[in-house]
Amino acid sequence: MINIAKIREDFPILNRKVNGKPLIYFDNAATSQTPQRVIDEIVNYYSNYNANIHRGVHTLSQEATDLYEAARLKIQKHFNAKHSYEVILTSGTTHGINLVANGFSTLLHKGDEVLVSALEHHSNIVPWQMLCERTGATLKVIPMNEHGELIMSTYEELLSEQTKLVFVNHISNALGTINPIKQMIDMAHKVGAAILIDGAQSCPHIKPDVQELDVDFYVTSAHKMCGPTGVGMLYGKEEWLNKLPPYQGGGEMIDQVTFAKTTYAGLPHKFEAGTPNICGGIAFGAAVDYMNAIGFDAIASYEHKLLNYATKQLLKIDGLKIYGTAKEKTSVISFNIEGIHPYDIGTILDKMGIAVRTGHHCAQPIMDFFKIPGTVRASFAFYNTKEEIDALVKGVETAKMMLS
Ligand code: ALA
Repeated sequence: MINIAKIREDFPILNRKVNGKPLIYFDNAATSQTPQRVIDEIVNYYSNYNANIHRGVHTLSQEATDLYEAARLKIQKHFNAKHSYEVILTSGTTHGINLVANGFSTLLHKGDEVLVSALEHHSNIVPWQMLCERTGATLKVIPMNEHGELIMSTYEELLSEQTKLVFVNHISNALGTINPIKQMIDMAHKVGAAILIDGAQSCPHIKPDVQELDVDFYVTSAHKMCGPTGVGMLYGKEEWLNKLPPYQGGGEMIDQVTFAKTTYAGLPHKFEAGTPNICGGIAFGAAVDYMNAIGFDAIASYEHKLLNYATKQLLKIDGLKIYGTAKEKTSVISFNIEGIHPYDIGTILDKMGIAVRTGHHCAQPIMDFFKIPGTVRASFAFYNTKEEIDALVKGVETAKMMLS
C-alpha cells in the first residue's frame, strides 16, 4: 500500500510553486523527480568521497571505488543479472543502445535483417538505421494497430533466418503500451536472433528480471526511476558482451597499451572508457534502494488506479481523444482535443502550474501513424494524486474553453 502523504514528503520539489500555483508534475515519462534520499547521496559524495575511481591507492579513491562498485551490485541485484560484470554503467539509455549498435557493425552483413517496432523512441530507431547504412543490413518494421499494440502475427511473419537482431521497447514512451516482451524474446531466439529491450519507460513501473526474461540486452536510464540524469545501465549477457568490440577507447578500458598494439580490459571495464559519472552511479544505486523500499507491486497497483481514474475523467471532456488504448498499458495518457494544437493546451496548463509534455515525444513515426503533429502527454508517478488529476481535468476544460 502506498502512503501517499509520506511519499510526497520525500520529494522536496513537490513543495514548490510554478507560476504562483502548486506544482503538479505530470511529465514523469520525460524525467522522474528526485527523492531526498538520492539528493543526500549526491551531497554526501561530493562532501566526503569525491575522487577518481579504480585509479588511486589513496583512501579517498578506494572509498569512492567501493561506493561505485557497491552501486553496481545493487543494480545487478535489482535486475537479477547473473554477474555484476554484465552490468555496464552508461550515460543513459541512448548510450547503451549506441554501444550495442556500434558493436554489431562488426557482426552484420549485407542480406542480414534487423527488426524494430513501430512504437519506438527515436533513440531506438536512428542508431539501428545508422548501423544498417554501415553494414548493408535491412531494417524492417513490426507494425502496430489503432490501439498502439504491436501486431504479433506480422512479427512472426517477419522473423526468419535472416533476422539477426530485434529491438523493441518494454513500454512505449508516447502511448504507454506494455509490449509482450517475454513472448517477443522467445520468438526472436527461435530464429537465432538477438534482442535488445529499451527499458527506459518500464523501469519506473516494473522490476524486470533479465535472467527470467532471457533477454540479450536490456537498457535503461536512472533519471526515469528517481535517480540523476547522465547515468544508466546496459545489461548484456556475458557471451554477447564478449563478442562486441569496445565502443570508446580511452583510460580504464585497456589491459596493456603500446604504440604497436593495445589489449583490452575484461568486462565491465572494456565498455567503460574514461572517468565515469561516479556520483551518478552511486546515486543510481540509492534510487534503486528507494524504489525497492516502496515496492514495485505497490507502485504498479497505485499507478494503475491513477491511470484508470484519469482516463475516465478525461474522456468526459467533449472532443478529447486518447491515443494509445492498449489492453496492457502503464500510467501514460497521450491525448488531443479536436481542433486545438497540443502546444497551446500545454502552455495554458503550465500557467496553472501543471507540467505535461507536448509534441511528438521523440516518436515521430507514431504521430505519422495517427496523422497528427503531436499530443499532450500526462504521465503519472507513484507520488501523484487523484486530486492532481482533478486539477488536470479542470485545466484541460479551461484550456478548451479559452482556445475553442
Ligand atoms: N524519452 C523522454 C520522453 O519520453 C524524454 O519524454
